Amino acid sequence: MDATTVKSIVWEHNTLHLLDQTRLPVEVVVEEQKTVEQVWDSIKQLKVRGAPAIGVAGAYGLVVAMRDHTALSRDAFLEKLQAAADYLDSSRPTAVNLHWALTRTVEAVKASEAGTGAELLKVLTHTAEEIHREDIELCRSIGEHGVSLIKEGNGVLTHCNAGRLATSEYGTATAPMYLAHERGVGFSVYSDESRPLLQGSRLTAWELQQAGVDVYTITDNMAAFVMQQGLIDLVIVGTDRVAANGDVANKIGTMGVAILAKHFGIPFYVACPASTVDLNTPSGDRIVIEERGDDEVTHFGARRTAPEGIKVRNPAFDVTPNELVTAIITDRGIIRPPYAETLREAFGT
Ligand code: MRU
Repeated sequence: MDATTVKSIVWEHNTLHLLDQTRLPVEVVVEEQKTVEQVWDSIKQLKVRGAPAIGVAGAYGLVVAMRDHTALSRDAFLEKLQAAADYLDSSRPTAVNLHWALTRTVEAVKASEAGTGAELLKVLTHTAEEIHREDIELCRSIGEHGVSLIKEGNGVLTHCNAGRLATSEYGTATAPMYLAHERGVGFSVYSDESRPLLQGSRLTAWELQQAGVDVYTITDNMAAFVMQQGLIDLVIVGTDRVAANGDVANKIGTMGVAILAKHFGIPFYVACPASTVDLNTPSGDRIVIEERGDDEVTHFGARRTAPEGIKVRNPAFDVTPNELVTAIITDRGIIRPPYAETLREAFGT
């Protein structure tokens, strides 16, 4: 199996399989998810990661949670379902897609007229499958809207992994890249390593390389230099949550890239599906930023790289202020400032 065929999430014969992304690029290991606790843990440990993918995994996680409870009455089923959704929602706080997918699934089940547990499970499964299918279409559509931004000979810098591994296919930031590549445009990608967990070098570089895209991996502190060298024409990154004013949360280090891009006069694009836009969060300072364990910072893989007992900060995300964002490439088109108006026009109900 290689990156062009491997899928982060496989749903087959009512069984959920997740690719363990922590083992990439060295090993391709797929694990069956037998319990809701296992799904919670897979999300927490970043075996499945990336905003859209954890939304899809969460929705299937509800099926895993409920499939042995078809004997319950409607009320008891709905109560247990809500508890499972709250539990899965507690695994990671920053990407809104998880909360969005869990809420959409629970609401669909509640709104159905199904009277028995077995019927309710059918609605639940159907909704999770629908979210999964839509994710593929939405990413393709992001690609269609963004593809013309990449021109022959361009250098594109990206941070973390907003690729096919973070979604069901195509990715978000990578969707314009995959489509440009399919259409014969020659360009190079510079993939920031994305310390501490190296999603850029382990995942983005892996999947783009195997798809035949010309890709370099660089350490995070090289971004300024490659920009100064004139190697970068545009930046495209993904996001975990877009606030109503256009502030965007993404992997720690993204804001630094945006500040550099502004300094060097390079456009900074963010790519995401509608499910990542959170109009209920007015601005980025209201986004909860996940703090992760010290080991990720004090170690490089299994090797200790900082003194025992050292104090550590490990925020997993940062928030790029909207004034640094040139445009947001979405499945509904390219959204430009002033975001407080344009996001509401495109995504308000
Ligand atoms: O901690 P991760 O690996 O889940 O962080 C992922 C990112 O920051 C991605 O850029 C974001 O979720 C968008 S994925 C299409």
